Amino acid sequence: ANSMLSVDFYHTSCREAESIITSAMSQAFKRDPTLAASLLRLHFHDCFVQGCDASVLLDYTEHHAGEKTALPNDQSLRGFEVIDTIKAELEKACPHTVSCSDVIAAVARDSVVLSGGPRWSVEFGRRDSITVANNVTVLQGLPSPNSELADLLAKFEQIGMNLRDIVALSGGHTIGSARCFFLKGQRPNSCSRNETHASLDQTPKVFDNNYYLALLRKNMNGGFFQSDNALVKFTPALDLVQIYATNSTAFFDDFATSMLKMGRIAPLLGSEGEVRINCRMVN
Ligand code: HEM
Repeated sequence: ANSMLSVDFYHTSCREAESIITSAMSQAFKRDPTLAASLLRLHFHDCFVQGCDASVLLDYTEHHAGEKTALPNDQSLRGFEVIDTIKAELEKACPHTVSCSDVIAAVARDSVVLSGGPRWSVEFGRRDSITVANNVTVLQGLPSPNSELADLLAKFEQIGMNLRDIVALSGGHTIGSARCFFLKGQRPNSCSRNETHASLDQTPKVFDNNYYLALLRKNMNGGFFQSDNALVKFTPALDLVQIYATNSTAFFDDFATSMLKMGRIAPLLGSEGEVRINCRMVN
């Protein structure tokens, strides 16, 4: 039981872990609801690079640059202070027990729930890396926003995920925003005047199936990235987009299933890695 993920991993060692995380996350969300999108994305960027091991949280040191400075993350990932606050509270309640990678997984779920999306039981028991990926490895792991379906399939299949996972998890783009330069002259009205960011769909604070409706409707904006619009170009993916656009329960169920699957990518287990005390640095 010690060397696999389970929903009750902390039941004896830190029974209050999940409630500490959830109440701190709710407070952060009340102050700034846009943190939900950023923290959902953090779990994705953690898991797709070297597995769900909180390697994404390590700060720059003289030994490594850290994933934070890699192209897809630099000036883009945010919400690290929320993780720090939660981790500090956990260290007070249950010293040296709850891993940073598990905090990210729980915070991602809470972000979805707080935004109105599905709830799932988070699995725990990951440990934290003592290594960090370099820029090249980060770029190898994460799909590019210019991806076509074949590129997405290649990235997802290398870590055991399939087409359904791609279409369901892309629905994460139902919340949040992205930097305007990704639009490259399309949608001139989305980034007006001095705006730096534009919403990923028309209801960027609400976790709903609007993202899929927009992909299908010519009179809506379509997807934000080429990788979003790639989902409606070929039948197998398009079929799923149509299902999620008409049936938000199907989207919520599949999203939850795929998030659990994503959370199981190459975790460090048992005595591998460590439980970091400060998520930004190895012990
Ligand atoms: C399928 C391949 C994917 C690509 C190519 C992609 C690409 C991107 C890019 C380029 C941004 C904007 C970054 C910026 O402006 O700095 C973004 C934002 C975002 N992505 Fe993705 N993404 C993908 C999958 C996912 C997945 C699987 C999730 C979560 C389940 C996700 C959740 C988000 C969220 C919530 C934001 C907004 C973040 C915020 O508001 O801070 N994305 N994505």
